[in-house]
Amino acid sequence: MGERKIPFGKPWITDAEREAVLAVLAGDVLTHGPQAKAFETEFAAFMGAGAHAVTMSSGMAALHMAYWQFGIGPGDEVIVTAQTHVATAHAVEVVGAKCVFVDCQPDGNIDPTLIEAAITPKTRAIGIVHFLGMPCDMPAVMAIAQRHGLKVIEDCALAIGTRLQGRHAGLFGDAAIFSFYPVKHITTGDGGMFVSRHKDFADTVAKARAFGVDRSFSERTVPGMYDVPTLGLNYRLSDLNSAIGRKQLERIATILDRRRANFAALKAGLAGAAHLTVLDSDGANGAINSHYCLTVVLDGPLAGHRNEVVRQLNAQGVGTSVYYPHPVPRLAYYQGKYPYDPAKFPQASRISDQSIALPVGPHLESADMNYIAESVVHITRALSS
Ligand SMILES: Cc1ncc(COP(=O)(O)O)c(C=O)c1O
Repeated sequence: MGERKIPFGKPWITDAEREAVLAVLAGDVLTHGPQAKAFETEFAAFMGAGAHAVTMSSGMAALHMAYWQFGIGPGDEVIVTAQTHVATAHAVEVVGAKCVFVDCQPDGNIDPTLIEAAITPKTRAIGIVHFLGMPCDMPAVMAIAQRHGLKVIEDCALAIGTRLQGRHAGLFGDAAIFSFYPVKHITTGDGGMFVSRHKDFADTVAKARAFGVDRSFSERTVPGMYDVPTLGLNYRLSDLNSAIGRKQLERIATILDRRRANFAALKAGLAGAAHLTVLDSDGANGAINSHYCLTVVLDGPLAGHRNEVVRQLNAQGVGTSVYYPHPVPRLAYYQGKYPYDPAKFPQASRISDQSIALPVGPHLESADMNYIAESVVHITRALSS
């Protein structure tokens, strides 16, 4: 095997993005202008019928906005999947509500059979994540939510291109968020998108995202004149960021195709390896994976060797990550606040402690996938013999 340097993630920035930013800089409107509006329209069109999109300064900001604008707060409980980025849970905590964590299935997505048992009279919502871009069982989650009158917030940070039964992730629940952090499918530097099927709710969020003022700069008939009927924050995405996002979105089909091809090549290369499980729900029940990464879970004799496998892969130039390094209830903040019972989270713990995320981004090609597969097979074989 020749020497290679394979980063886990690398933003794919072209001259199109650079020129778009320069064009915004040459104009008069740097924020909250035509680029942000066009990005919202184009993103909603990409997602499909019924989507209303609102640009946000980050995925976290969009999550905060969702819980805040649903009026969820002190005294309320939200059922949250244990295996996710801390943002999914932090958004619940910052509005003063309580996270009630439930374990995931072996594939990392929330286990719907555990949701119902966690519901109490205080439960107001369910916060799910489409884990690594693999769609959750949304029909099951929505059936429970409807039975109990709960809101559903979909964290789609890694789920651009994720579909279930022909519908894009984020269009099942009441609100959804996307992230444009640099290693995501598309980037704006930092940035995010709030999406809802409910137009009125999206309009309310759009106002709350800009101080709660009743009319934006371009809607004012008398310059400088506006009123403020509600509370609000400044969670806007600038036109500079939005212009980058629009150019990235133009390439989304290519980005998703490359990820799919890389994922398939790597999965095939790992097919013969013992004690490795590839997390992938693609194809099952009309599920389409967005292929954020390819996560392998090490079992049997490899179970305790995750960090050693990572060390050796990194030494051979293969960038890796772990999604996520702890079940959220095991993180220091949450353990300090709520009693932590590891026996409640066997699946989330298995993924946190025994998995490795391998890169499949559009910056890589099939020779990289062969190199990664050969490296993984070679290293794990030596450690398990
Ligand atoms: C699942 C998930 N949700 C939310 C976020 C937060 O998004 P942002 O970094 O745009 O605030 C991330 C990571 O960045 C994530 O992985």
